[in-house]
Amino acid sequence: MDAFLAIASKRDERRYAERPIPPEVVERVLDAGRLCGNSQNKQAWRFLVVEDAERRERLAGALYSPANVRGAALAIAITGRAFDAGRCSQNMMLAAWNEGVTSCPNGIRDAAAAAEALGLEEGELAIVLSLGFPASGRDAARRTAEGWSERADRKPLSELVTRL
Ligand SMILES: Cc1cc2nc3c(=O)[nH]c(=O)nc-3n(C[C@H](O)[C@H](O)[C@H](O)COP(=O)(O)O)c2cc1C
Repeated sequence: MDAFLAIASKRDERRYAERPIPPEVVERVLDAGRLCGNSQNKQAWRFLVVEDAERRERLAGALYSPANVRGAALAIAITGRAFDAGRCSQNMMLAAWNEGVTSCPNGIRDAAAAAEALGLEEGELAIVLSLGFPASGRDAARRTAEGWSERADRKPLSELVTRL
């Protein structure tokens, strides 16, 4: 998929098909995180693939939107500094979308409970990604990048950009 088409057509999806994500796709998503640029290249992050059902449920209960993680084929918890984790998340989510896998970032409601569910210190966890093939059959190829851009629920550049 063209990089800009992937960016323009990527929306955060919260409902996933039951279909599992092939292991090679999971590996590629994780590698997209590994490859991400980061502060001083310290790579001070970890990617926790939450497979254990009990852990997953405890984590879900500590998030603002538990159903996103409960219904996801794949849940990845990312530790580290917010800016690095943000870049890393978007790398992973775009790599996933390139394979037709949708996703959503999930904010943490109860930091202590989330840390405990994952065996982390409080404050280490930055974000949790839920991923899966879309329940809706969303398809990037349905429109051009420009078509997706025009339809996006976003402020226009004229409101966002200042040239100084
Ligand atoms: C830091 C962060 C935390 C978020 N937390 C949640 C969340 O807890 N639950 C949820 O459903 N979506 C969450 N989102 C997704 C946003 O709601 C979404 O990016 C925004 O509504 C735009 O969605 P769209 O790209 O589909 O238009 C989060 C996004 C970010 C960047």
